[in-house]
Amino acid sequence: MAKTPKASLGADVRTIAVEALTEAQVKRELGALAREILEHDRRYYLEDAPIISDEQYDALRQRNEAIEARFSALVRADSPSRRVGAPPGTGFQKVVHRHPMGSLQNAFSEEEVRDFIDRVRRFLALPEGEPVAVVAEPKIDGLSAALRYENGRYVQGATRGDGITGEDVTANIATISAMPKVIKNAPAVLEVRGEVYMGGDEFTKLNAAQEKAGKQLYANRRNAAAGSLRQIDPAVTAERQLRFFAYGHGEVSEETWTTQWEFLEQLKRWGFPTNPLAKHCKTVEEALALHRDIGQGRKGLAYDIDGVVYKVDRIDWQRRLGSVSRAPRWALAHKFAAEQAETVVRKIVVYVGRTGALTPLAQVEPVHVGGVTISNIGLHNEDIVAEKDVREGDTVIIQRAGDVIPQLVRVVPEKRKRGARKWKMPEVCPICGSAAVREEGEAVRRCTGGLICSAQAVERLLHFCSRLAFDIHGLGEIQIAQFWENGDIKEPADIFTLPRLASRLKPPLAERPGWGETKMRNLFRAIEARRTVSLDRFLYSLGIRHVGESTARLLAMHFGSLDNLLATMAAARDEDSDARAALDSIDQVGPVLAQALIDFFNEPHNQKVVRDLREVVTVEDFARPAMDSAIAGKTIVFTGTLERMTREEAKARAQQLGAKVAGSVSKKTDLVVLGPGAGSKAKDAERLGIKTIDEDEWLKLAGK
Ligand code: IVH
Repeated sequence: MAKTPKASLGADVRTIAVEALTEAQVKRELGALAREILEHDRRYYLEDAPIISDEQYDALRQRNEAIEARFSALVRADSPSRRVGAPPGTGFQKVVHRHPMGSLQNAFSEEEVRDFIDRVRRFLALPEGEPVAVVAEPKIDGLSAALRYENGRYVQGATRGDGITGEDVTANIATISAMPKVIKNAPAVLEVRGEVYMGGDEFTKLNAAQEKAGKQLYANRRNAAAGSLRQIDPAVTAERQLRFFAYGHGEVSEETWTTQWEFLEQLKRWGFPTNPLAKHCKTVEEALALHRDIGQGRKGLAYDIDGVVYKVDRIDWQRRLGSVSRAPRWALAHKFAAEQAETVVRKIVVYVGRTGALTPLAQVEPVHVGGVTISNIGLHNEDIVAEKDVREGDTVIIQRAGDVIPQLVRVVPEKRKRGARKWKMPEVCPICGSAAVREEGEAVRRCTGGLICSAQAVERLLHFCSRLAFDIHGLGEIQIAQFWENGDIKEPADIFTLPRLASRLKPPLAERPGWGETKMRNLFRAIEARRTVSLDRFLYSLGIRHVGESTARLLAMHFGSLDNLLATMAAARDEDSDARAALDSIDQVGPVLAQALIDFFNEPHNQKVVRDLREVVTVEDFARPAMDSAIAGKTIVFTGTLERMTREEAKARAQQLGAKVAGSVSKKTDLVVLGPGAGSKAKDAERLGIKTIDEDEWLKLAGK
């Protein structure tokens, strides 16, 4: 039996808001996205056998772009945003496109289309409201190809490939009956571009034949067209009856048209098939009306389309508009809205993300929406479930929008079974059993299990080893993930037993790929160097919510010792105790932080983590700031590069001596420490008459 590719759950659960990602998560996710998208590209372009839908694929790319837009410094050299499609496969000669074959910007709503026209107008400095005529035509779901003619004779046909280099499929394209082999009155060089597609009932026939032959089925017409075009034997391509619509051009030696519309007319005169639904639209409203019309008639067409493409009609304007990252500024693909379907919710389960966020997920009767089978739908948070009042057993309407993952639109109340119970979010983590709490003002409920929750462990362990925490070199994401998956490191204390157990691990560490003797020894040395840790680093390393680096120092300063802090936490467990009030009243500790601390230290799993850690490391009491120091109570600003200590060290030392450290110079500043390269802050200090010192003087003050 042939298998139909199924969509994977992977993309459905990428639900952490981009803004909420940590830098480590961003790096990891961009890496994962680059790998995943490359793999999907390979399957799509080279094997014609994708395993996810176009929308899921779009969602991956958009996620990648959204993260990159926010974290531009972390964009990878191999980012999917830097390439189009997949490099050509082997088996065909390569063709380097004389003009690269780009892609289109997408829009999913009428508003975005109007914005597009406004952008065009602004770019061209046209008066507001001036109509921008466009050619609108269906976006054919096939694969683009470039057909080259020299002196009116067809000489070469190529696929897009990665946009720079494609595959030479000259003979295969020649099997398309509607493409002209010879053109009268053609310029000396003419490269026509368009879409090769599979129409009529060709697709159904082909899949029936594939099934009979025990071969893999094609997921959709597009893949069938691509697979058929890329047959080594053109005779096989010929049997598949491919078709072609021309819509653009690459290199041409002479242009006799001044608008896109005239160009389409010219294509027709040369004998190329062009899409009969293409229309010259004088205004954006006319173009949008065509989009609606075509959308409605879409099911009746003998080929698949996934939107409408708008192209600025005037060629001189197209030239001025040019391209951005290989997509023309003068064209836009307006995708069709989500397709809807009805299905039944079997169960609502809860997924735990890497930050501990609990996300409800509806498992539904698998349903086909626009060519893909959906069986899971993310419901974001408990408020959304309550607002939509989704219950297990309910009949629901779901949709797949072009840009996002499947969504649950609404419940069909008439079809609700009697006795259906309101759904309730669990108050314990379904993975580790720790309490799951929802803070005031937050939509998301989070597992408090932290380090012991397998959903969060790798992220938490990474934080534990990070520079401002235990600062263990040699334990990066890859190593931690490996140790975690092997079961060698489950909680932080296990890190410190690694050196002792290394030879008894299975397989022994020295025998694992990537683990030479030297690397192993270096890691053990780095671990041993951290057997003693300051209280502030220790607190920071635990990854308690709301406890960042400076809060950790504040707590360390206040409590002085871990025993002291733990005793207060134990006492605060009792709602009425004075300990809670005492905690609230610490300068800069509000009730939210106080509650986060109490939640964390009262979770039995976390208590075990702390207990186990204390068996293997020594937590130093916090040296109280010497209040008689020269800078006690003063506000200090550091600027420029310090050469003999890091900024963090200087900051910590100043705080230890009872000073406050500020980020900018103001009237309240008492002292500015100037390192080489100090800029505007030095000037501010001078202007305000604030005392400045250099690094040497600072070191003297700091007692170093
Ligand atoms: S114009 C710079 N017109 O959509 C690319 N493309 O997402 C200009 N497509 O690679 C392309 N129908 O394969 C254009 N009427 C149409 C199209 C169309 C389908 C495809 C084409 C292109 C992809 C871009």
